[in-house]
Amino acid sequence: MLLEKITSSQKAIELEDKYGAHNYHPLPVVLTKGEGVHVWDVEGKKYYDFLSAYSAVNQGHCHPKIVGALYEQATKLGLTSRAFYNDVLGPFEKFATEYFGYDKLLPMNTGAEAVETAIKIARKWAYEKKGVEETAAQIIVCENNFHGRTTTIISFSNDEGARKNFGPYTPGFLKIPYNDVDALEETLKNNKNIAAFLVEPIQGEAGVYVPAEGYLSRAKELCEKHNVLFIADEVQTGIARTGKLLAVDHENVRPDIIILGKAISGGVYPVSAVLADDEIMNVIKPGQHGSTFGGNPVACAVATAALTVIKEENLAENAEKLGNLFRRKMNDYIRSSNIVSLVRGKGLLNAIVINDTEESSTAWEICLALKENGLLAKPTHGNIIRFAPPLVMKEEELNDCVNIITKTLREFEK
Ligand SMILES: Cc1ncc(COP(=O)(O)O)c(C=O)c1O
Repeated sequence: MLLEKITSSQKAIELEDKYGAHNYHPLPVVLTKGEGVHVWDVEGKKYYDFLSAYSAVNQGHCHPKIVGALYEQATKLGLTSRAFYNDVLGPFEKFATEYFGYDKLLPMNTGAEAVETAIKIARKWAYEKKGVEETAAQIIVCENNFHGRTTTIISFSNDEGARKNFGPYTPGFLKIPYNDVDALEETLKNNKNIAAFLVEPIQGEAGVYVPAEGYLSRAKELCEKHNVLFIADEVQTGIARTGKLLAVDHENVRPDIIILGKAISGGVYPVSAVLADDEIMNVIKPGQHGSTFGGNPVACAVATAALTVIKEENLAENAEKLGNLFRRKMNDYIRSSNIVSLVRGKGLLNAIVINDTEESSTAWEICLALKENGLLAKPTHGNIIRFAPPLVMKEEELNDCVNIITKTLREFEK
């Protein structure tokens, strides 16, 4: 290898610090290997991964079937761009649209790109199908949303860190409180220019906020009533993470547009996608949207394998079962805890709230102690720690993890 060999965590951290932009604040652990639910650092210490690259590695690290598909396709044909057809994209689109039950798929690479794609489709649909006057379309979004990092997406964020000094901001977004159907109804009633309602079925980055049961189905009904597209951003919640294939499936909601990313490739390769039916997707014509890498043969082969693994290994069912077990065990602990005030989540997307101020460093210190004890997790916002292990976890492994977590938390009890 031409690159400098890393022999210590310290060295790798120093290099990133000196030569890399400081746009992240990682936990001080340097990983070199992953397999299933485990990762290893450069000193050889083994950890449970309790983040799964923000829910991208649902199928576990280096899943042989997914890596095999990557290798096979990469050694045959890697990239054609969409200037030509390739013999994998069409079959993948057929497979994925049947898998999720939509007419069409538009492939992209990252989650944020797929969100941008959905926004563009919704605006075009509003002008060409709904009859909204050009440039007047509005999209309703929720407070504390997280949909990615592009200039347009951060324009409708209310996280100061994500927004400040990145203006001027893209107009055309109306923000309402999350989990508030009355606010949605009011906004829909008072504005004829609404193209879409863009929502995370569970707000992941914000701290795993699960809305009240019935929120998503009621919101979908209201959107239908007002001829507004319901867009579900399932980048983090989708692909079995919450115990169903999609988080909207918990309420039997069928969004007009679904946004997928992360685990659609099992974390092996950047793949994202937007799904919709013909009457919506067909507003996009040649030359109006695209990406050099979107829909490349490797991405399609990898995503096909990753989605197949989800069904073959019953990962949604496993996430549901282990998620219930996890919350039950954490609740048992919390009953006599001063340091944790609650656990919440669905399937294997969970968070605990630390009993300290939002600005305190307690959650960060707990994550450092978890690392020492062999489990990797990261605070989301302030005093909230997200727990999202790979969905291939076994029950004994989950029990082991709960023991590590509760033992660590006990060190912090006052
Ligand atoms: C709900 C949601 N949407 C979009 C994104 C952005 O995805 P990416 O980081 O791949 O651009 C994320 C990333 O965490 C997400 O959680």
